[in-house]
Amino acid sequence: MADAIDASPLVDGFGRAIRYVRVSVTDRCDLRCMYCMSEDMSFVPRSEVLTLEELERVCSAFIALGVRKLRLTGGEPLVRRGAMTLVRALGRHLAAGSLDELALTTNGTRLAHHAAELAEAGVRRVNVSLDTLDPGRFRAITRRGRLDRVLDGIAAAQDAGLTVKLNCVALKGVNEDEFDRLVGWCGDRGLDLTFIEVMPLGDIDGSGGFSRADQFLPLSEVRERLARRWTLVPDAYHSGGPARYVRVAEAGIRLGFITPLSGSFCDSCNRVRLTATGSLALCLGRAESVELAPLLRACPASDQPLIAALRAAVARKPEAHEFGTARCPALAAAGRLMNLTGG
Ligand code: 5AD
Ligand code: SF4
Repeated sequence: MADAIDASPLVDGFGRAIRYVRVSVTDRCDLRCMYCMSEDMSFVPRSEVLTLEELERVCSAFIALGVRKLRLTGGEPLVRRGAMTLVRALGRHLAAGSLDELALTTNGTRLAHHAAELAEAGVRRVNVSLDTLDPGRFRAITRRGRLDRVLDGIAAAQDAGLTVKLNCVALKGVNEDEFDRLVGWCGDRGLDLTFIEVMPLGDIDGSGGFSRADQFLPLSEVRERLARRWTLVPDAYHSGGPARYVRVAEAGIRLGFITPLSGSFCDSCNRVRLTATGSLALCLGRAESVELAPLLRACPASDQPLIAALRAAVARKPEAHEFGTARCPALAAAGRLMNLTGG
């Protein structure tokens, strides 16, 4: 008889319970956003990417260990063939009550096509990355995208009953003149909005990832500028992540600010990330990770070793990120790109 699985919750060495796993289902994407990928991006060979079954297996093991929220990311999760099969499989945990939330972060290009099916599978919320409302600028930032597709996707998601939040990377000299317009636009549509500071993850431009310093715009400044036009009311809502929130009184929406470079949020961290190749990244801002693929392949029949590995990995979760410290260049050199790790 198999030993009973120890299903006590996952707790790290600093007493933080891990309830949230972000899963990159593919490193591929149909866009090439300038802060995320190089123009001639090469992707991981498909043979190195976890199969959909392996992804589901790791997610289910996490759920058995008390994880209550999963977020599928990429790359672009919806470009992976069979992505909806994975969504439906994971949706069964929602129906069973063993998972509270299955969410998706998407660039929206294929959302119009999948929105209804996502809602049917039990997805309630999607985050759509959108940095501009200007078609030409959208094409420039993404190097190839069509804004109208994304806008159709957002509308379809709302029609399907999904709650949509926009993520906007604040880029100095690129989209900083649009923030007021974005807030108003989101207000008109009942969309929450979160601004993100650009992060130096991975070496995409040959300079250790730091030429993005040119585009770095502190969100403290964004917030100050927005406050000239809008009434920003502090909001107690807290996701357990790096975002801080206010309500925009006139627009009636929640506005978030994700400041990985200037903020300190590690004390309440409740999450780990699974990369598309099965690397468990214990902190977005640190190089520590554990490779799960060899174990998945060596032990196809028993989840016991996997569960033990997840526990051991979480026990090694670092106390805090190292963005903005002297050790940060090492992280860039480690080459863990955003599209592989999941944003
Ligand atoms: N800095 C900040 N955000 C980034 N994203 C991708 N790369 C970066 C980066 N270097 C964001 C995307 C999306 C989410 C998945 O991650 O815009 O909103
Ligand atoms: Fe694709 Fe998102 Fe990266 Fe843009 S930021 S290239 S949409 S993964």
